[in-house]
Amino acid sequence: MTIQWFPGHMTRARRQIQDKLKLIDVVIELLDARIPLSSRNPMIDEILQNKPRFVLLNKSDLADPDVTAKWVAYFAGEGLQALPVDAATGNQMKEIMARCRQLMAAKIETQLRKGINPRAIRALIVGIPNVGKSTLINRLAGRKIAATGDKPGVTKGQQWIKVGTEMELLDTPGILWPKFEDQQVGMRLAATGAIKEEILHPEDIAFYTLRYLTVHYGGALKERFGIDKMPDDPEDNDAVIEVMEAIGRKRGALVSGGRVDLEKASLTILRELRAGKMGRISLESPDDVNEEKPL
Ligand code: G4P
Repeated sequence: MTIQWFPGHMTRARRQIQDKLKLIDVVIELLDARIPLSSRNPMIDEILQNKPRFVLLNKSDLADPDVTAKWVAYFAGEGLQALPVDAATGNQMKEIMARCRQLMAAKIETQLRKGINPRAIRALIVGIPNVGKSTLINRLAGRKIAATGDKPGVTKGQQWIKVGTEMELLDTPGILWPKFEDQQVGMRLAATGAIKEEILHPEDIAFYTLRYLTVHYGGALKERFGIDKMPDDPEDNDAVIEVMEAIGRKRGALVSGGRVDLEKASLTILRELRAGKMGRISLESPDDVNEEKPL
């Protein structure tokens, strides 16, 4: 699902989350492990304020484990615990509950000391579209939860989903917007499939992606497509296009006259990347955060 975000939508989405915050103890911020900063809401600190929270780096099955480990350290430096997960297979679900308990430990202890029996910890999942919120809710619930309220502006009664005996999850997640006014962010979101190709042209997305891959994942390109020669200079656009053409030829993406159909080649690159066919790849690393590198 791709939502068109306008200032009115953002304000409404923000209000909806802030209304939900009143009901909950812990926020679970869901990010895409392949692009944690690009899949993050730019106003998240302001929106969530001081609510106890932690980060889940979802789709970590598709991300480069070494880079994901660096992101965990990066968020720790920000005072936030980050846990790589894989909502699609349900990996680490027990650990999510443990993290919620950990965040609430001091409060629960105080209640117990006062003789109050603590109620279940109430949690809310927040994140941008396509990051895996519904998949995670279904996993934690152990069944499919109808996502009728999954649109900004659509209201329905809140329901609590029991997760084990100690946790309750709000059935509708908080939907946030990404920092899409930044073109590099837009490219990364499109590369992972969070933004549909109708919005950004597949050739542009594949070009930017390929440029990053030639620098960071030359070995994966070589293995998948048999390409030996990576551009000496990633800023050399023609050399990047040559790699794209070589991939197109390899996959038979040709038009009459034997020329490479660049659109077809682009779609192939993106499809194979998103399906994890090139191996586990991250498109953003804490190492490039302070560098103005493309993609
Ligand atoms: P949302 O509620 O945040 O909008 O996201 P949603 O759960 O709908 O997930 C978006 C897509 O991401 C889905 O794929 C879902 O299967 C996939 N996904 C979620 N978590 C993971 C994960 O940990 N790993 C991987 N590899 N994929 C994940 P889809 O193509 O839209 O649908 P489908 O393939 O499930 O049919």
